[in-house]
Amino acid sequence: MKISVVGSGYVGLVTGTCFAETGVTVTCVDIDQKKIANLKKGIIPIYEPGLDDLVKRNVEKGRLFFTTSLKDSLVDADVLFIAVGTPPDEDGSADLKYVLGVAKEVGMYLDHYMVVVTKSTVPVGTSHKVKKALQDELNKRGIIQQFDVASNPEFLKEGNAIEDFLKPDRIVCGVESEEAKIMLEKLYKPFVLNGHPILFMDIPSSELTKYAANAMLATKISFMNDIASLCELVGADVNWVRKGIGSDSRIGNKFIYPGAGYGGSCFPKDVKAIIRTSDEYGHSLKILKSVEEVNDKQKEVLFHKINKHFNGNLKGKKIAIWGLSFKPNTDDMREAPALVIIKMLLEAGATVRVYDPVAMQESVHRIGNIVEYATDAYDATIDADALLLVTEWSEFRMLNFPMLKKLMRGHVIVDGRNIYEPEEMKSNGFVYYCIGRKPNA
Ligand code: UDX
Repeated sequence: MKISVVGSGYVGLVTGTCFAETGVTVTCVDIDQKKIANLKKGIIPIYEPGLDDLVKRNVEKGRLFFTTSLKDSLVDADVLFIAVGTPPDEDGSADLKYVLGVAKEVGMYLDHYMVVVTKSTVPVGTSHKVKKALQDELNKRGIIQQFDVASNPEFLKEGNAIEDFLKPDRIVCGVESEEAKIMLEKLYKPFVLNGHPILFMDIPSSELTKYAANAMLATKISFMNDIASLCELVGADVNWVRKGIGSDSRIGNKFIYPGAGYGGSCFPKDVKAIIRTSDEYGHSLKILKSVEEVNDKQKEVLFHKINKHFNGNLKGKKIAIWGLSFKPNTDDMREAPALVIIKMLLEAGATVRVYDPVAMQESVHRIGNIVEYATDAYDATIDADALLLVTEWSEFRMLNFPMLKKLMRGHVIVDGRNIYEPEEMKSNGFVYYCIGRKPNA
């Protein structure tokens, strides 16, 4: 079996490498020459635990290749995965120019049967556009060449992507031919030895499944963020409420942790895109519109807490921030709550000193020197009037109270992820604010 994976970003690289792991010959393609040159040297463009070793091993075994030539990758390929980006347009709909660009290029060179699989998250109807773009090129060349399209969305969590790929809860495949089904079944069989299903379905259902899954998860989070705000008003503790509802198997205990708002590349983008698609069909997805609204507000919550503590006067205050990435174990800062909080703090006249275990470079790249960069977590708190925990990296979990007390000017902690206990904070002399629980102030 030989496959080509076009787009060596996060999804493409994980997909290609994990397939290589099962013995398939994989060529990963990207137009970015520097990225490919680096990958050939074993330099991975993203932070994803375990990926370096897996890439190295499969390159050494001669199963994983990198190239900038899509044409070369087509030689003898049985399946081609499109895993290029679908950045959101101004209006929130997914921009398909890269996806369709790949389809077109495949059509320019295809000379044998192949299954072209859309892996990127794309709106319903895209696989048919891929099919048309490819067919148009074949027509231009005046040749008759059979091929199939399929849809196979990924459900990879950043920071846990390898595990998610190797041991998926399920694999969703939208197909419209028996050949495509057989091909994908063969490819994915090694990953479902744990008995989890490969769900074959029609292509629109498969395309919609991805959006519906992310929209549902985003809904759970926003729902809990809303409930957390109510908890604060009525004097309840969201941790109890969360446990109380999470024990009901119909609700479940996952993705009901309130926090600083969801971020990352998938939830915000996919919620926007599904709203947009439905609007186009004349149906307003009202619940999801509220989900978005709740999330935008939630990203401001930590700011409002600290602002209130200082009676609306943050001018000249020094604020330390722990955590910049949208969640732990990634350097991804797309739609990260930290960006909103930093902006609001600076606008209010505070100075901000930040630390993140891996996202510092990414932050310099994104927001430059509008904040100070610390060398470690405690360095960030020097002279700080307050500390804001935005991302729950493990290294922030155990606090060195004597050190914090010595370093900080004020003893205030705002915990955006509920990782500390109010009582412990109090006994160590800290004013503590959290999400959906009583502050100790
Ligand atoms: C998500 C989906 O989980 C994945 O299936 C999809 O393919 C891509 O999008 P990812 O964005 O990597 O993956 O992160 P995930 O771990 O799902 O977290 C998303 C956001 O929700 C984070 O900002 C996280 O902090 C937040 N979150 C998650 C909460 O606020 N509360 C929770 O209980 C869970």
